[in-house]
Amino acid sequence: MIASRVIAHRGSALLAPENTVGAMRLTRELGVDWVEIDVQSLGDGTLVVFHDEHLGRLTNGLGPLRALTRQDLAGLDAGSHFSADFAGEPIPLLEDMLQYLAQAGMGLNLELKFYDDADIQDAVEKVVRALETQWSDFGRLLISSFWTRALELMSNLRPTWQYGQLCVELPQGWQSRVGHLPLVSIHCHGDSLTARQAADIKAAGYELYVYTVNDRAAGERLFEMGVDGVITDDPTLFSSHFQGAGRTRYGGSE
Ligand code: G3P
Ligand code: MG
Repeated sequence: MIASRVIAHRGSALLAPENTVGAMRLTRELGVDWVEIDVQSLGDGTLVVFHDEHLGRLTNGLGPLRALTRQDLAGLDAGSHFSADFAGEPIPLLEDMLQYLAQAGMGLNLELKFYDDADIQDAVEKVVRALETQWSDFGRLLISSFWTRALELMSNLRPTWQYGQLCVELPQGWQSRVGHLPLVSIHCHGDSLTARQAADIKAAGYELYVYTVNDRAAGERLFEMGVDGVITDDPTLFSSHFQGAGRTRYGGSE
C-alpha cells in the first residue's frame, strides 16, 4: 500500500485550521501519519499551502490569494478563523510545510491546485525543486491533482515519483484518458463512487483513495467496496484503521 488507510484532509480540517503547520502537529499527535495538503502559487510564484482561491474564508485578509506576494504573508492570520487557540498560524510556505512533515516522518499526499491564470508549468517546476530540497522519503509522497496536465508535466520531469489522478466523478473512458501517465492511484469523491467503479479501478491495478469522508458508516462502506484509504477531515472517526498503515512500495520495500 502506498499511503495509509486514513489520510488527514488538509491536516484534519474539522479539528484544526486547515493546511496550517498547527493542523499537521495536531494530526501527528492523534497518531495519524499521512496528511493531504493543497499547494498553489502566489502572484510572484511563491508556493504556499492553501486551499481556496480567495483569502476571506480562511484568513483575516480579503481578495484573491494570487494578488499576494511573499512579503504579504506576514500580515495574515490563517488560524483565528478556526479558534483563538490557533491565532497567528501563518499561511505556510510549501518549503516550511515540507520541512515540518519530513522532520515529523509523516507521509504526504500533495495536491497540486490551480485557479484561473496560474502558470501550471512554472508551479510544477517549482514544486519539483521544493521537494528535491526538502523531502527525502519519496515512498511517502503521493502527488495528486484534478489537472491531468500538471501530472503529465511533473511525471515527465520525475517519472519515478508516485502520482494519483483526482476526479469528482469518474469519467467515461477514464482509463484511456490517464493510461499514458505513470499513475499509482485514482482519487474519487466518496459520494459519487460506485461499487462497480471501485472494482474497475482496483482491477486495473490502481490504488483507490476517496475524499472527503466525514461519516464513519460511509467510510466503512467504502472500505468494504475495496477502497485503500479515506481522506477525511476527522481521522478520529477511523481510529481503528490507523494501525498497520502501509509504508510504501516505492523502491520495492513492500
Ligand atoms: O485530495 C482530495 C481533496 O482534497 C480534493 O478536493 O477541494 O478538498 O482540495 P479539495
Ligand atoms: Mg485537496
